[in-house]
Amino acid sequence: MDSFNIRGGVPLKGDVTISGAKNSVLPIMAATLLTRETCVITRVPNLSDVKFMADILRSLGAEVAFKGDTLTVKAERVSGVGDYEMVRKMRGSICILGPLLARLHKTKVSLPGGCVIGARPIDLHLKGVRALGAKIRIEGGYVCVNAPRLTGAEVFLGGRSGPTVLGTANVLMAATLAEGVTVIQSAACEPEVVDLANFLTSMGARIQGAGSPTMTVHGVKELHGAEHEVIPDRIEAATFMIAAAATGGEVTLHGVRADQLTAVIDKLREAGVRIERSGALLKVSRGRKLKPVDVTTLPYAGFPTDVQAQMMVLMTLTPGISIITERIFESRFMHVSELARLGAEIAIEGPSAIVKGGAPLSGAPVMASDSRASAALVIAGLVAEGTTQVNRIYHIDRGYESIDDKLRSLGARIQRVEES
Ligand code: EPZ
Repeated sequence: MDSFNIRGGVPLKGDVTISGAKNSVLPIMAATLLTRETCVITRVPNLSDVKFMADILRSLGAEVAFKGDTLTVKAERVSGVGDYEMVRKMRGSICILGPLLARLHKTKVSLPGGCVIGARPIDLHLKGVRALGAKIRIEGGYVCVNAPRLTGAEVFLGGRSGPTVLGTANVLMAATLAEGVTVIQSAACEPEVVDLANFLTSMGARIQGAGSPTMTVHGVKELHGAEHEVIPDRIEAATFMIAAAATGGEVTLHGVRADQLTAVIDKLREAGVRIERSGALLKVSRGRKLKPVDVTTLPYAGFPTDVQAQMMVLMTLTPGISIITERIFESRFMHVSELARLGAEIAIEGPSAIVKGGAPLSGAPVMASDSRASAALVIAGLVAEGTTQVNRIYHIDRGYESIDDKLRSLGARIQRVEES
């Protein structure tokens, strides 16, 4: 398995362009199954998760072609079974459930299973499609869904941790071709859900309230092909903002939607990071003195759980006590033990991590876990004295396009070591 070798101590300087959003393009790729016509998606990030989703679409019978950052999909004929092994390997692929149900009225998709950050149940996804008239049975690790007719309904999709992003996406996509009106209450408000809704609208869907907790969908007979440019990846942007501040450099991010980063910008400014905005540019540098902060992850527009690990690294560099509380996933502190190997002092108390910051980090071999935690370890390596080896970097390649190339262009001493 490949790894990154990082020699720390270089402040990042220069310009970086943010790629299209992984968590937007995956459901949008699934949505292309809703029409027989051709869809063209641009600003598609070159990620292993995107390639994987493309393989899943092909396994369902769709024609899929990439040309640079443009993806063309034509799902003229579609079969109804999501490949067991494929769907199990990538949780995000659960979002083929809604489109397949709407298109074929019958499908079988493997239960996605849990991952390092939590159990990742799909009870709310199933509650939503059941409300639209689907009959569901779990058999042999598959969820088998059958709905001769999909009928609009009112459904509350809030769970114990708040709304569900992909659950909202699944129900939204199924509702676009249901008969009648669907009202989704406690819908996820993430920008990626709004991006999906915009794509569906360009295909002829009738959706109101995207980005608000109540979405209303008037079902239509069919959807047509469309073109769509994916929104920039706010999580990648936040990651580079924190890397700039952590290394004491100055980085200008290009192609950013600052309006989708308000909680991150607010918290980083509170922590002493200097952030200047002009249009789609964000210039980020460390201010005079970093200050400890308290952070709680929340559903959008709160502080994103996908930026929790990266923020923790910045807090390990900040003299004083910071508290980071994870309210979305039940076990998203895998990076804590790895950061401790670099000298960080962090204690976990239930859903909170108490960070005693200020001690310098020193390089060591560390293990990546989920995509975002792995990016946090890279940031730590950029700051630590000496060399840090981040192993199992396939996790990073799932969620970040060419992160080593982008960091090298900012002056980082990072090399990809391919395991022979
Ligand atoms: C999406 O996952 C993102 N993934 C995640 O990003 C992100 O962390 C998460 O939303 C929260 O923002 C993609 O979009 C591909 P949820 P999703 O359903 O939709 C519970 C990354 O690194 N829940 O919003 O799967 C669940 O256990 C990834 O880019 C239920 O209880 O997350 C969690 O506690 C990691 N029942 C909470 O809701 C359900 O049926 C939020 O999960 C569904 C979810």
